[in-house]
Amino acid sequence: MNKQVQQKETPKVVKGLEGIYVATTEISLVDGENGRLYYRGYDIRELEANGTYEETAHLLWYGKLPNKKEYDTICKRLINYRFLPDNLLQMLHLLPQGTVPITAMRTFISALAAWDPWAEDNSRDAELENAMRLTSGIASLLAKIHRIRTRQPMVEPRLDLNHATNFLYMFHGKDPSPEAAKAMDSFLILYADHGFNASTFTARVTASTLSDMYSAITAALGALKGPLHGGAMEAAMRQFQEIGSPENVEPWFRKAMEEKRRIMGIGHRVYKTFDPRARILKERARALAEQSSEPQWFEIAEKLEQLALSHPYFQERRLYPNVDYYGALVVYYLGIPPEFYTIMFALSRVAGWAAHVIEQHADNRLIRPRALYVGPEPRPYVPLEERS
Ligand code: SDX
Repeated sequence: MNKQVQQKETPKVVKGLEGIYVATTEISLVDGENGRLYYRGYDIRELEANGTYEETAHLLWYGKLPNKKEYDTICKRLINYRFLPDNLLQMLHLLPQGTVPITAMRTFISALAAWDPWAEDNSRDAELENAMRLTSGIASLLAKIHRIRTRQPMVEPRLDLNHATNFLYMFHGKDPSPEAAKAMDSFLILYADHGFNASTFTARVTASTLSDMYSAITAALGALKGPLHGGAMEAAMRQFQEIGSPENVEPWFRKAMEEKRRIMGIGHRVYKTFDPRARILKERARALAEQSSEPQWFEIAEKLEQLALSHPYFQERRLYPNVDYYGALVVYYLGIPPEFYTIMFALSRVAGWAAHVIEQHADNRLIRPRALYVGPEPRPYVPLEERS
């Protein structure tokens, strides 16, 4: 290696930044060893049992639980943003009927910026406004994209329903059961933030160039799409459907192990024990399954979980169900088609992404890591006519 470019000592490369701390954050604590998750110091189990998604969004954005007046204010402002601009609604009809839903969402969530007067303003107050418009806007967009794909009439937002219930009302065109409404709110609370996961880190890298909130959220949506991250929920449901019946779980599992297939919804970069969100979502899914005419999907998932957890391969690698394993079932029992699952993840995570963009802009340092060059040594140019 040429002396001029030789490093004093070869730097250590950590693929995937595994285990590397790249910044501090005050938003969420992911305790992988003990299977605990805290938003701004509050255990998600208490937030899920006692609060709503609106309360969690306020906590993530403002750093504290809202008092009654603050809660009423954030609910009213989120309700106002449920109504989408007319021209944007017309755009929804311009994409081909079979457009992949997350491709449509990536397009329209970005377009929403055109109607946001604060879209180019990175101040905290402006970005708090962006956060509310995006959080309500993505829910209305998802419902309307579904209504267009299924050739059903559009359903206008209601002012008397909370965020989770209004979304299900706009999606299905009818009031959800109380159990479904609570399961939806629970899903939104549990998926709202999770440290520097791939999509959140993508949002922070984008924000670190001093780009705007909408660009950061659009970039995060692109990162979420991958099957190793947000795409796993859809993959997990399709996996349960591939198994088809509780009787087929064992033979399917044996074959999957022989083929070294990844079991979707299992394993996590940080949790080396049960994902605390999965524990809660499992009970929400059980309750919905008991009320539904298709309890077999929960039976399949629980049986597959038991087989995996009792298998040495998973035990040695400390692989447990993650949020998507039972999150997929909750969303299925809420009547959402699998092709919308990744966007359902985004429906919740948009609150966390926005909180991280605000935190990044509040104390910014351009995120620009190094790469260890292992390509060809410096060499002279060869004219075209002399190349073999
Ligand atoms: C989310 O980061 C976050 O916080 C994400 C998230 C969030 O809220 O934002 O929690 C949401 O994305 C949850 C993860 C959803 N993805 C999946 O369920 C896809 C299936 N899971 C795996 O692909 C995997 O577990 C990851 C991607 C989630 C984590 O993988 P790592 O940390 O990179 O671990 P790895 O791929 O290096 O695997 C370590 C070992 C390997 O075996 P060996 O090389 O040691 O022989 O475990 C094996 C892997 O083959 N392994 C699996 C497995 N997951 C890991 N084997 C079978 N099935 C699996 N699911």
